[in-house]
Amino acid sequence: MGGSSHADSTVSKNEEQIGAPKGDAFLFFRNFFRHPRMLGSIIPSSRFLIKQLLEPIDWDKAKVIVEYGPGVGGITAEILRRMRPDARLIAIEMNPDFVGFLKKTLVDPRFDVVEASAADVNEIMKKLGVPKADYIISGIPLGSMPAAVRQPILQNTREALAPGGSFLVFQFTTRVAPDLARVFRYVKRKFEPLNILPAHLFFCQPEPA
Ligand SMILES: C[S@@+](CC[C@H](N)C(=O)[O-])C[C@H]1O[C@@H](n2cnc3c(N)ncnc32)[C@H](O)[C@@H]1O
Repeated sequence: MGGSSHADSTVSKNEEQIGAPKGDAFLFFRNFFRHPRMLGSIIPSSRFLIKQLLEPIDWDKAKVIVEYGPGVGGITAEILRRMRPDARLIAIEMNPDFVGFLKKTLVDPRFDVVEASAADVNEIMKKLGVPKADYIISGIPLGSMPAAVRQPILQNTREALAPGGSFLVFQFTTRVAPDLARVFRYVKRKFEPLNILPAHLFFCQPEPA
């Protein structure tokens, strides 16, 4: 499970380079026409959205980070650029084209990408032998999923978080807000206009800090 070896050159080295690995745009665009509901957007997240989404992370303390729906890896590459040398990043992605692309382009011993649904987060972490997550980051279209798919993802996410852990979410609508408020005791909202489409961000914790 997962692809892992050294290749620091694939990871952006400075703030200006936030974004997905090269070759990403066409792959993302093509997949949007195949699976529009699963992707939710026609192009990958902007560097403004990535920056704001990751802003709450305490990089000195984060040892286990999970990402749902990495797509072509813009957020993933930035997490790898910033995270500790001994931290782990587990990405869970349903689209096999994106999983193959990430395995080829983001080669890093701290990184595993798994072809699965976010609903399987606890089984995946157990199989990989990682403890509970300090942060779970999600770009999957929770708001447009049927409730029967969304609810288990949210419940399992809560279970996968370590005490004091946080769930960082972006969405293109606010439809998911009532469900987040039901599952998490603390939910703070933000907004990022500089993205196609403008994005709503949610910072969620099972218990307020
Ligand atoms: C809006 S795209 C976000 C891509 C990337 N994170 C970005 O910000 O550019 C949503 C991604 O979530 C994936 N996805 C949708 N449902 C999923 C699920 N239940 N579990 C894991 N990945 C999922 C899609 O295949 C797609 O890659």
